[in-house]
Amino acid sequence: MTLAVQIRQHGGPEELQVVDVTVGAPGPGEVRIRHHAIGLNFIDVYHRTGLYPLSMPATIGMEGAGVIEAVGEGVTHLQVGDRAAYASNPPGAYCEVRVMPAKCVCKLPDAISFETGAAMMLKGLTAQYLLKKTLPVEGLQPGDHVLFHAAAGGVGLIATQWAKALGLQLIGTAGSDAKCQLVRGNGAAHAINYNQEDFAARVKEITGGKGVKVVYDSVGKDTWDKSLDCLRPFGLMASFGNASGPVPPFAPGALGAKGSLYITRQTLFTHIATRESTQAMADELFAVVASGQVKIHIDQRYPLAEVQQAHRDLEARKTTGCTILTL
Ligand SMILES: NC(=O)c1ccc[n+]([C@@H]2O[C@H](COP(=O)([O-])OP(=O)(O)OC[C@H]3O[C@@H](n4cnc5c(N)ncnc54)[C@H](OP(=O)(O)O)[C@@H]3O)[C@@H](O)[C@H]2O)c1
Repeated sequence: MTLAVQIRQHGGPEELQVVDVTVGAPGPGEVRIRHHAIGLNFIDVYHRTGLYPLSMPATIGMEGAGVIEAVGEGVTHLQVGDRAAYASNPPGAYCEVRVMPAKCVCKLPDAISFETGAAMMLKGLTAQYLLKKTLPVEGLQPGDHVLFHAAAGGVGLIATQWAKALGLQLIGTAGSDAKCQLVRGNGAAHAINYNQEDFAARVKEITGGKGVKVVYDSVGKDTWDKSLDCLRPFGLMASFGNASGPVPPFAPGALGAKGSLYITRQTLFTHIATRESTQAMADELFAVVASGQVKIHIDQRYPLAEVQQAHRDLEARKTTGCTILTL
């Protein structure tokens, strides 16, 4: 028997319960991995609450790092004993040991610790596809302004540093002055406390009235309308999350009036649908982390048994950077 965190119904953090489970052998295309650390992500909250429904009982969690214990038929890129890390569908990472599809699991370079691997895979691969593949029609060139909401968070702090490495002028928003200081300290050209300032007005001021080429928006409901006002003509609204709630239905006519804007709603899981694309993106992530251009800030650690508190703190906006569950 081994430990896992299960929910029996959607609801609050109290639904997260540690239980004993039996883990079998991997089938074709699968591996069994023994976690050394597990990553906490905001999508875990959506899975717990039912914003993204799951069938019950469910073990949530989509990010982890550990050692490969067994390899199923047809898996060639991993061997027993390999250090490995992943961001993956289906959920199931909140546990000591799991069986999972091998295609999203990557060998972890020796230079990267298990804790860093567990903290960065889902968030870092997200930052990669946003900044490298979710681009306006005119592309992004060094010196261009982009707006990135919740820049002091897990995805946000990685993207802030990566944008700096790409030569972009990232304007980050965050919910307190202390968080704004952290965002500036990680390479943002500007940081705006969106709980106190009108971020659209500040963006216009910073960009000399022009606006930004892209808004990367994971806050959703609370930032949607004003984010559209931050874009220059032909700019791209890249929606990728709903920390404040889902974006309400939207009439496309507004896009014309605001300057022939583009909208996309992206998810990592389209980008990591194949082994090849996952590895190519992970190689870029490993390179920026190994080079020191992107530092993975693990600002919170909770034992797996304290996962309820981890969820409370994440939802209460008390966290910065990455959070891991330890074993
Ligand atoms: N589509 C994808 O592929 C993809 C992949 C990964 C993550 N995401 C999304 O990216 C976002 C960041 O994920 P993360 O795991 O790194 O989380 P996180 O940024 O560490 O935490 C979420 C942050 O959102 C901000 N926020 C604004 N309004 C909020 C509200 N009403 N309730 C709670 N938080 C609020 C808070 O920062 P402030 O206090 O500074 O406002 C909070 O710290 C999430 O929305 C997540 O769903 C999407």
